[in-house]
Parts: sequence; structure tokens; C-alpha cells
Amino acid sequence: MTTTTKQDHVLIFDTTLRDGEQSPGATMTHEEKLEIAAMLDEMGVDIIEAGFPIASEGDFNAVSEIARNAKNSVICGLSRANFKDIDRNWEAIRHAKRPRIHTFIGTSPLHRAIPNLTMDEMADRIHETVTHARNLCDNVQWSPMDATRTEHDYLCRVVEIAIKAGATTINIPDTVGYTAPRESADLIRMLIDRVPGADEVVFATHCHNDLGMATANSLAAVEAGARQIECTINGLGERAGNTALEEVVMALRVRNDIMPYTTGIDTTKIMGLSRRVATVSGFPVQFNKAIVGKNAFLHESGIHQDGVLKNVETFEIMKPADIGLNEDNIVLGKHSGRAALRSKLGALGIELGQNQLNDVFVRFKDLADRKKEVYDDDLIALVRVTEDATPDRLELKSLKVICGTGGQSADMVMTVDGVEKSASTTGDGPVDASFNAVKEIFPHTAKLELYQVSAVTKGTDAQATVSVRLNEDGRIVTGSNADTDTVVASVKAYIHALNRLLVRRDKVGTNADAREISYKDVS
Ligand code: KIV
Ligand code: ZN
Repeated sequence: MTTTTKQDHVLIFDTTLRDGEQSPGATMTHEEKLEIAAMLDEMGVDIIEAGFPIASEGDFNAVSEIARNAKNSVICGLSRANFKDIDRNWEAIRHAKRPRIHTFIGTSPLHRAIPNLTMDEMADRIHETVTHARNLCDNVQWSPMDATRTEHDYLCRVVEIAIKAGATTINIPDTVGYTAPRESADLIRMLIDRVPGADEVVFATHCHNDLGMATANSLAAVEAGARQIECTINGLGERAGNTALEEVVMALRVRNDIMPYTTGIDTTKIMGLSRRVATVSGFPVQFNKAIVGKNAFLHESGIHQDGVLKNVETFEIMKPADIGLNEDNIVLGKHSGRAALRSKLGALGIELGQNQLNDVFVRFKDLADRKKEVYDDDLIALVRVTEDATPDRLELKSLKVICGTGGQSADMVMTVDGVEKSASTTGDGPVDASFNAVKEIFPHTAKLELYQVSAVTKGTDAQATVSVRLNEDGRIVTGSNADTDTVVASVKAYIHALNRLLVRRDKVGTNADAREISYKDVS
């Protein structure tokens, strides 16, 4: 089956679970991937790229289960240009009602040099692999990686080969975020004009955001004839990320007068997905991010507030409700019960199983005792703390910190695999002293790459959310925690990251992760 599209309809291809999950530190658990895929399916995403099945057992299992569960979306898996990758991909996605094989190879001079293939050898490889994929599945997407830095004549030649071999979608990636809107449009136009058979396939645009132009480049490609946009929720992705789904979808909706294209996305699901992806990936959304940032609908200056009160359209080009932003400002407090909590979480797009709900409820009550009002972001931070299903090997039991002008020290008790251990340490500040205690109790070589604190709500009793990123021999993990005590949140975030590192040490072998396999051919 070919996924074609009406002239004015743009297909939305979401790659949060593949390209998005490739961002350093953005590991999602199996259950989290299933949950995000179900939300994308319900939102009306046309194609979900669910993972890279050859990368690891975990990726394979997640893609297979997502394929079995999907109700409407096409389920796509990624594979390099070799039979082994493509076969493994097919094994995972074949259970879907609507499977798609995606296969790619780097076609620019820099990328051709890696497998050391001549132009002719690469052309043959593309013919063989796309033919092989098409013999397995009637929906095949082919991508010339780094297309925007590939010689035009060669790009036309290989796109024609892929179409003749049976590709039904041709994706044109701007892998390094190098192009600009006019060039992005010219490239698509050039391919549609020059390549025989171009009118038989859907052209897709896949833009990275290294120069902050991903959304503009994607929309320019659509104006030139592309009819599939590849994107991720919150723009999650390697380096500066990918085109953000919410940006292209809302831009097409709000400026339909000058970009008359439709998508099948239910935009009221955007906020729920954005928050959920931020929670499970550990990548918080920047406050001023278009559409989904915390400040996107806030009016701080007097002139703006005055205008909005008189007529909301003076400073707002879309309504918060259009993206599912809940305007009811119900604030939970210590008298709120389980039902209010469940309903509030539901409005935030968070459905929890009974056990996790109980866990969140206990933490919520504890927080509400210490803090007058519990806001949406406090709750999201609490849910994040209860996320990981694997039992923790390291646990903080108690922490006493002395700080002030006389120096800083920490007395800590932790359990390591159930065994209680303690340490008394000093350091350059209370956080440093506490981190030194963690290192003394559980020696490790992971380097602290990022330590970030933000207050999630207003006031001096606000919860601090702390994110920590650790790197152990290229294995990158993030940990986060929220508490009204910044030092406690810091230590728990550090321990959270270490627990995740231990899980990854256990699971990850050679070639076991999409970030750890090279794009080089393995067949
Ligand atoms: O950015 C890129 O080139 C990719 C390909 C694998 C499609 O993600
Ligand atoms: Zn990409």
C-alpha cells in the first residue's frame, strides 16, 4: 500500500521515539515508549517512527509491541542500507496493520567516504536494498542522509533509483541543520522537476535545528511540494533537535490563509503530549519555547495584560484551548483527595496505574503539608519522581547538611543493594559536600556533565527541580528530582541518574543502543 496524500494534505511523521530518543540522555523505558506511541496514535499522527529495531533487543521489542498496538497510524522502523537491518526491521513492524520500512544511506561526499563506496557502488547498494525492502513491505521510505549537502546531479540519480526500486516515500533530510528556507524549497522543487517518477511518490522533509531554522525549512519544503513533515514532540532530538511537531502543525493551522494545507492532528492533544514527553525524556521544555513553553501564553507587561483583558486577540494568535492547555486554574492543596488528584492529572494528559497513583498521592500529601498550593508543574515534577519501574539499587536514607560561613559538610546514609552505608564529607558548598558523600558510599567514574536547578513554581516554598547528567565512557544518563529542599533534590537527582546508569550498564552490550551503533554498514 502506498501512502499517498491529497494535494493540500500534509502527512505528519513523528520520530520522537527514534530520532528524538537519540538525544544524549533521553532514554525512555519500554512502557513509556508504548504510552507515547498510543498518545501519538490517538492524536492523529499519520506515521510513527517507533525505533531502530537492529539497535538493541529493547528497541526491537518496543517497535514490535507498538506495531501490534497501533490503531490507526502507520508504524515505521529505521534500518541502514543492508539486508540484515532491513530484515530485523521487518520482523518488528510486520505485526502492524500498516507497516512501513524506512531505510537510509548517507549520500553526501563526507558520508560516502565512511563506508568507502564509489558513487556507482552506492547507487547499486541503494537499488539492492530498496528492492529488498519493497519485496517485504509495500510501504517503503528511503532517505539519502545529508541530502542537503549532496551534489544535485547525484541526488537526482539516487532518488530516481530508489523510486524505480519501489520506494513510495522519498525523505530529504537536512541531517546537520545546514539549509535555509529558500534553499530547502528549491531542493524539493528541483527533485520534483527533474526526477522521473517523482509524481508517483510522496516527498518528505526532515530538518534538524542546528541554526534554529528547522520549522521554517520544513514549511518552505511543503510550499515547494513536500507532503510529509518529519518532526518530534518539543523538537526533541540530537544536538539542537528536530522540527517540533507542535510548531509546524500550529503554524499550518494559524496561517492557513497563506499556507493552505491541512493535517489530521487533533491539536488539543499537543499540551498533554508535550508534558508527557518532557517528563519521560528528562528534557524539560524551555520557558519561552513556541506553543508549549510555560510562558507561551503568559502576559507579564502592563500593556499586554491590559490589551488581553480588553480583547484576547490583541496579543494572542491562538487560544490556549486550541493546544489543550487547561485554563482551569484549580490548585490542589492539603485537603484535596485522590479523585481530585486523578482528575487533575488526567487534565494534564497523565494517566497513572493504581500503584503509581498511590505513590504520587502519598508524595502529593507530603508536599501539600509543606506547601500551601500545589500547582500543575509541582504535580508533573512529582510524577517524574515515581516514573522508573526498575527497583532502585541505590537509595538515600538520610541526609544532614551543615552550611554557612563556617564551611559545609554532609552526613549521609544510603543503601546500596539493600545494605546500609554511611559517609561524612566536606565540600565546596552543600551540594558538593553531599555529592562527595554519594561518591564515597558508591565509588564510580561517571563524570557530572550537567547540573541544573530551576524553581518549578513561585515563592520561597517552591519545589526545586534538579536535573543531573552523567557520562560514563560515553554512556549518558539524566536524573531528576524535585523537592522543596534544593540539596535533597540535588542528591536524589544524582542518585536517580546513577540508578539509571546501573540499569544501562546491565542492559547495554556492544551495538545495544541507537546512539552506540554506527551508521556504517554492518552486512
Ligand atoms: O537526520 C537524518 O538524516 C536522519 C536519517 C536517519 C533519516 O535522521
Ligand atoms: Zn534526523
